[in-house]
Amino acid sequence: MLKAGSLRENWLRPFFFYGNNWLSLLGGAITTASAMVLVGFWVVSVVGHGGSSNPYLGILFDLLLPGVFVAGLVLILVGIFIRRSFLLSTDQVPSFFPEVSIHDPVFRRGLDIVVVATLMNFIIVGVGCYRGVAYMDTVSFCGATCHVMAPENAAYHVSSHAGIVCTECHVAPGTAGYVHAKVNGTKQLFMVLVDHYPKPIMADHKVPVASATCLHCHNPNAELGDKLVVSQSFADDATNTQTSSVTVLHIGGDDALGHLSGIHGAHSGKIEYVATDADDQTIPWVRKSNPDGSTTDFIASGAPAPNIAHPQVMDCIGCHNRAAHSFDTAQGALDKMMAQGSPSATLPFLHKEGLALLKTKYDSQGEAKARITSGLITFYRSQYPSVWDAQRPQIQNSANSLVRIYIDNIFPAMNVGWGTHPNNIGHTDSAGCFRCHDGNHTSKAGKTITNDCSVCHNLVVSNEPHPKLLTDLGMH
Ligand code: HEC
Ligand code: HEC
Ligand code: HEC
Ligand code: HEC
Ligand code: HEC
Repeated sequence: MLKAGSLRENWLRPFFFYGNNWLSLLGGAITTASAMVLVGFWVVSVVGHGGSSNPYLGILFDLLLPGVFVAGLVLILVGIFIRRSFLLSTDQVPSFFPEVSIHDPVFRRGLDIVVVATLMNFIIVGVGCYRGVAYMDTVSFCGATCHVMAPENAAYHVSSHAGIVCTECHVAPGTAGYVHAKVNGTKQLFMVLVDHYPKPIMADHKVPVASATCLHCHNPNAELGDKLVVSQSFADDATNTQTSSVTVLHIGGDDALGHLSGIHGAHSGKIEYVATDADDQTIPWVRKSNPDGSTTDFIASGAPAPNIAHPQVMDCIGCHNRAAHSFDTAQGALDKMMAQGSPSATLPFLHKEGLALLKTKYDSQGEAKARITSGLITFYRSQYPSVWDAQRPQIQNSANSLVRIYIDNIFPAMNVGWGTHPNNIGHTDSAGCFRCHDGNHTSKAGKTITNDCSVCHNLVVSNEPHPKLLTDLGMH
């Protein structure tokens, strides 16, 4: 066993003796300076209120600075190795290593150099980091790199959750969640830097479970009752005939007496499923836990038996998968905007032409902007010259609105097109509820997951031009 004394003599003394060279001293200074900046950053992010949310800090503080730290250590060793080899080859190795003492002028000189160099390095590394952080906040840096988040970012800014920071839903609380997110985020940022990442980016189950995120703000047992949903649509005829639909959705929940009801009450915590694709769109196996403790398995007829070793528990995200990033369909977005007045329903065949222009494939948002605008103008100028003469501002405004629908939903650079990120909340645009409620998932006992329309909603009015109901309700 090494004693403290022999440790000092056999290791510490030769270390300082050989280490007293320019390269090792510089390495020592770099290591200490980067360590000081790193520790400072950690203290700020733990004691301060979370520090900056800039994700690129990860690259700086989790990759670059630790890299500089290690490089400093390597320099120390390289310096020692070179000096030792030199002394060995010139036969200058002393038989006795000098004592490490503050009174020794040689040791003092080395110490002075380290202190001065550390201070200088500290200023260089510190200013470098500060400027790096400032640079990463600039539009030019984000424009060049953050574009991979453009689809989610755009949709997020028009969602109900626009004020909520990304990490509320994307990072589980606690150390494990933080570390997981840091490791993942740094890895992803690296993939962006080397231009090697999936396009489009899919959620792929990387979002933490609802209990770690959504339920910090939402009460899973709230009784939400029935909700009246009014929607407008426009036909492809010359006058863009407008009709309305009224649906009463039975959202339900958990009332004061503990009665579960409606859509929310039917699933909470008691449904498990297995999906065979990364996007959870194909669900061949569903298990329901019954109140008596037994379970019922529903299996899609005709589907090959899936591996049920790791079922997912259905939580809020099972239906509200687009809570913060909902992309519309071309038809849905156009109907909504036309109901608000632009694109203008006073222009003949606007709905038909607009939809065709929106659904055309363009190589970039810039190209879409130019071609949608020129396409609409050309249509009216050539087919309806009198309309073109009389309603030029409406045509230009309508073109602008079509462009806006396009750039809010379609991102050619990320391969995000119509329907890339389906919304699971309904069933008209993608399978949604019908992933299970398609009337094709049946248990051994012959029970089928319901497909009865009225269990989920009452379609009170279906595409009527002027429903009396809306007039009675004062909603028209
Ligand atoms: C209210 C919660 C919430 C907030 C806030 C939120 N997200 Fe999401 N995000 C989700 C959910 C839920 C999913 C999809 C999960 C699934 O389908 O399994 C998702 C998916 C994603 C995806 C994967 C691709 C996709 O579209 O499915 C990206 C990238 C993403 N979010 C980025 C962001 C960014 C950037 C922000 C902040 C600007 C943000 N999110 C804010 C809940 C949120
Ligand atoms: C930090 C708090 C917070 C978190 C976390 C959060 N929400 Fe919300 N959510 C809100 C608030 C506040 C509103 C109401 C916004 C409004 O009324 O404009 C809301 C509204 C909603 C709505 C109704 C409006 C809509 O867009 O349909 C749904 C559904 C919803 N949240 C689901 C979720 C889901 C699912 C998650 C988890 C992925 C989640 N929320 C996470 C705060 C939060
Ligand atoms: C089985 C599917 C499903 C699950 C699971 C689910 N929801 Fe919903 N939720 C819906 C539907 C459908 C609506 C009505 C959609 C609409 O408003 O267009 C809704 C509406 C809502 C609303 C808005 C109510 C309003 O008045 O607009 C909130 C908030 C909400 N859900 C929160 C949650 C939370 C939180 C969870 C998890 C505890 C959850 N939901 C789980 C299907 C679901
Ligand atoms: C992962 C599969 C799955 C998905 C997706 C799903 N459900 Fe369900 N749902 C079930 C199962 C299983 C039951 C229980 C069936 C039973 O007990 O017979 C159920 C029951 C219900 C019930 C109660 C039916 C009754 O007879 O009382 C309603 C209402 C309902 N779901 C609405 C929805 C809505 C709305 C959506 C989409 C937003 C949806 N579900 C999505 C699996 C699913
Ligand atoms: C498992 C529950 C469920 C079943 C069963 C179901 N639906 Fe739906 N349906 C929904 C939900 C949820 C929405 C979305 C409502 C919204 O836009 O918020 C929806 C939306 C719709 C819409 C669009 C309404 C609008 O105003 O845009 C139509 C039409 C519709 N359903 C028809 C039907 C018909 C017809 C059946 C019976 C064959 C049926 N649905 C069965 C849950 C269900």
